[in-house]
Amino acid sequence: MGSGPGDTVREHVLWNPFANMAGLAGRSVTIVRGEGCHVFDGEGRDYLDALASLWYCNVGHGRAELADAAAAQMRQLAAYQVFEHYSNPPAGELASRVAALAPVPGAKVFFTPGGGSDAVDTAAKLARAYWRAIGKPGKQISIARSHAYHGMNAYGTSLGGIPANTEAFVPLVSLVEHVAWDDPAALDKTIEQLGADRVAAFFCEPVIGAGGVYPPPPGYLAAVREICRRHDVLFIADEVITGFGRVGTWFASERFALDPDMITAAKGLSSGYAPIGAVIIGERVAEPFWRPGSDLVFRHGYTYSAHPTTCAVALANLDLIEREQLVGRVAALEPVLARHLAPLADLELVGEVRAGTGLLAAVEIAEESRAADPGLAARLVAGLRERGVITRLLRGVALQISPPFVITEEEIGQIAAAFADTFEAAAHS
Ligand SMILES: Cc1ncc(COP(=O)(O)O)c(C=O)c1O
Repeated sequence: MGSGPGDTVREHVLWNPFANMAGLAGRSVTIVRGEGCHVFDGEGRDYLDALASLWYCNVGHGRAELADAAAAQMRQLAAYQVFEHYSNPPAGELASRVAALAPVPGAKVFFTPGGGSDAVDTAAKLARAYWRAIGKPGKQISIARSHAYHGMNAYGTSLGGIPANTEAFVPLVSLVEHVAWDDPAALDKTIEQLGADRVAAFFCEPVIGAGGVYPPPPGYLAAVREICRRHDVLFIADEVITGFGRVGTWFASERFALDPDMITAAKGLSSGYAPIGAVIIGERVAEPFWRPGSDLVFRHGYTYSAHPTTCAVALANLDLIEREQLVGRVAALEPVLARHLAPLADLELVGEVRAGTGLLAAVEIAEESRAADPGLAARLVAGLRERGVITRLLRGVALQISPPFVITEEEIGQIAAAFADTFEAAAHS
């Protein structure tokens, strides 16, 4: 666990995201190396990474060609800004590549440096700028869903539907409303009550991720898409997790025929080898800004937008995904993962197993067990780690399974076995 000289100093200085720092001393796990679906701590302990880190290491750890791509680009041109009229070859090439992969006709692509949170805030601002540009400045409200996670910048925090993440901060952005995650009628009613002439956009994770991995209820996505179209509200698919293959198609928007006005993406674009996010923008939203003769400027951007080194890494990552046909591999592994996890549903402490949408799954801890024993979830996560599997707790209710695309059936079996063993041991302790 805690390892090596200097660790004590690090534990007291590095402020970990989403951590109880008061309780962390001496319990941090220092990951020093990764290879395939495995990561290793400072003491050489080997863990199966059931998370692909935070849903992003899709091509697996230790891919030297991505390091080579970064080094080659750094030697050529490590970084240069793209404000106003500057560009760089990897950024231009990556934008074309992403636009061609996305199920968004005539797409334009805006790159963000920090990942998904920047992409969400960019899309939210662009939605409002778009309505203003076409003479409907009253359309300013964004709607999101319960259980939603849209990152931690100001807009994303406000859009989030996980109360524990928002209660210390909101309202940050005031013009935000929430609806139940699984109820199209609630969206329809909310837009009607607010007035469609005040609503800019609906933000929707095709598969809810950090909120607990909820695949869309049958018919849900088609219904909310139709409602947005009918009320002339922009549909923004937050594909930060699902984009670039995780549901067995390049984008969930393709699998669920979403025809989004914008897609936000990040993680799988570079498999996390370098931080980068993207907003993929449909023709309608781009048009007022790109129309010949338009003098409009989207006054938004980041110092490291379209950073050449991160774009070069993302290009090498897409090459690798295509060469190894990893998106097809996810589709093939979808039923395998679901089959291995299904028996867990019969265990005493398990409430529900959610799987069946690509390599995305969660094992929910039974509500009565959580209520009776508030320390149970943390013990399950620790128990799994002791058995060599890294997972984490989502929204206080479910354990995440989102392995790298290169996972083998044998490794999926090992994850399922470790879950079964850990839950059984906890039930009888
Ligand atoms: C759906 C979704 N949107 C946005 C984000 C924020 O991305 P980041 O943490 O890269 O800023 C995440 C992160 O997990 C996410 O799952």
